[in-house]
Amino acid sequence: MSKKFLGILLATAMVATTLVGCGAKTEEAAAPAATEEAAEEEAAPAAEEEAAAPVEANGTKVGVSMPTKDLQRWNQDGSNMESELKAAGYEVDLQFASNDVQTQVSQIENMIASGANVLVIAAIEGSSLGEALDMAKEAGIPVIAYDRLLMNSDAVSYYATFDNYMVGTKQGEYVVKALDLDNAEGPFNIEFTAGDPGDNNAGYFFNGAFDVLKPYIESGKLNVVSGQKTFDEAATPTWATETAQSRAENILSSYYADGTNVDVWLCSNDSTALGVENALAANYNGTYPIITGQDCDIENVKNMIAGKQSMSIFKDTRTLASQVVKMVGQILSGSEVDVNDTTTYDNGTGVIPSYLCEPVFADVNNYKELLIDSGYYTEDQLQ
Ligand code: GAL
Repeated sequence: MSKKFLGILLATAMVATTLVGCGAKTEEAAAPAATEEAAEEEAAPAAEEEAAAPVEANGTKVGVSMPTKDLQRWNQDGSNMESELKAAGYEVDLQFASNDVQTQVSQIENMIASGANVLVIAAIEGSSLGEALDMAKEAGIPVIAYDRLLMNSDAVSYYATFDNYMVGTKQGEYVVKALDLDNAEGPFNIEFTAGDPGDNNAGYFFNGAFDVLKPYIESGKLNVVSGQKTFDEAATPTWATETAQSRAENILSSYYADGTNVDVWLCSNDSTALGVENALAANYNGTYPIITGQDCDIENVKNMIAGKQSMSIFKDTRTLASQVVKMVGQILSGSEVDVNDTTTYDNGTGVIPSYLCEPVFADVNNYKELLIDSGYYTEDQLQ
């Protein structure tokens, strides 16, 4: 172990010990008072704590590592997390890695070197941060995987996300209902656009949708005209809109140029759905397909209102940020951490205790209530 790192380690360990001590003081202060006089004394520390930030937060530094600013949702995740953590009394080091893995590794290592007490990480590629995660583990710094599971590392303490498989099943169920697949004659033509193979979530989204639609594909009621019905065939590296668009253009020119209609395009998220919508606008004159998405990105909600996208899955990043802030406080104060799934997410070293928020279905009929009434977007943003 390098002397530099040892210095960081000792400094961090000293800070960590102090923090754990603070947490213990809080627990001691909660002990029931034996006498009225003790109760009055006890009230004083509580009053002091009310004035200051929560003990475990007071100046504690949280490193928040986001993958990129290029996709709308991560800007919201980052700013929601930063404002909620600061409001709770934490110092925040928020970094965006421009979808460059080495940048993310360096940013996390710098967070450790500058004394972060907890790390919250949304990985660009779930298996590529091992070097930085090993450093965090050696420094005794808890790590929360944010929205995307960190893979093949025993440095991950918790995972906070939305129910990723449910995102997919909701998309699949939307298609079943919209086409009335249980009663309609069919067959209907469908194509799939999946997410980034480096993102552990992408497989859950695709499988959730495919598991719902598989019986209809097997019965011939749904026909994958391009034949591209596996995750690997439908995947979109870095979720890039341009990549999804060029693949959709190729499929349209190869299989639909003869006037064949595409009835459904199952897209795992909004950035890829936007690519498909761009391709359809320029290269397709048949009946417009049902298109699914996820994240309720502004451009896609506008397309929903304009009838160019059928639905999206709303994942309120404020909900996830609040949950993570709660977990940070629980970890630092040594109290029990809220989780609601201890079986699903094995990251290769074992199941990571997780908290799954529930994704919500959004379309032109409920977006006002979901997105505007809740203050997530303003009316003007969607004009
Ligand atoms: C996933 C995330 C989705 C999706 C995608 C692109 O990991 O859960 O919300 O948008 O990344 O950022």
